[in-house]
Amino acid sequence: MNKNTLKIISKKNKSKIICLTAYSKNIASILDKHCDIILVGDSLGSVLYNFSSTKKVSLNMMIEHSKSVRMGVVKSLMVVDMPYNTYRNPKEALKNAKKIILKTKCDAVKLEGGKKNYQIIKTLIKNKIQVMGHLGVLPQSATNFKFKGKKLIERKNILRDSKILEQAGVFSIILECIESSLTKEITKTVNIPTIGIGASSHCDGQVLVTDDLIGLNKISARFVKKYSNVTKQINNAALKFKQDVTKGKFPSKKHSY
Ligand code: KIV
Repeated sequence: MNKNTLKIISKKNKSKIICLTAYSKNIASILDKHCDIILVGDSLGSVLYNFSSTKKVSLNMMIEHSKSVRMGVVKSLMVVDMPYNTYRNPKEALKNAKKIILKTKCDAVKLEGGKKNYQIIKTLIKNKIQVMGHLGVLPQSATNFKFKGKKLIERKNILRDSKILEQAGVFSIILECIESSLTKEITKTVNIPTIGIGASSHCDGQVLVTDDLIGLNKISARFVKKYSNVTKQINNAALKFKQDVTKGKFPSKKHSY
């Protein structure tokens, strides 16, 4: 751990951790003052590029978006998702994580999965790379997006994986779409913060995809709460611009040289 990740850990049982996604500078700089963590999630594949799966997101896409986000982040911890097939073994993970850190100057990387990532995470941490875990629904390998923790075996495996991730040295774990009582058990069991998305209020913090939060992304999932309707605002602004240009009201003298 370093002082930045220790600061996140110290919030456990004290105050809730606020995390949101950003894919570019302007959004990141708005979010920065309200967040503890800004995540450059590979959800950008579906949100920005209309990919059917995050599997199609490349390392280069993550790096370019993260470079933009870095310019907007001053105080939050910046975490970057390692995309699919970039951390299949410790050697590959180390090479790609080093590249992400070097090019984007982010504070940590996030990997999806539990037991299978144990050695990978140990290797990254041995090389001073901070890691965030991700359990529950794992978009990079999911065949469906149903919440996890209904079946006993699923519950056992996810709880086991949370302990394995803690042992490996991650500084926090994203819990995605996990049944409430299992989330509660995991959060009580591990000494590192859990950050939930669709995983109830029993987590130590919450994360949402910002485009969902502000109503820019067309998605209707139970775990999403729309806090704003930016689509409507952009629509109104574009319409007003069109009307003004059509009527010759814009540009006025004030906007001319
Ligand atoms: O890719 C992403 O945005 C994520 C969050 C949904 C946690 O992993």
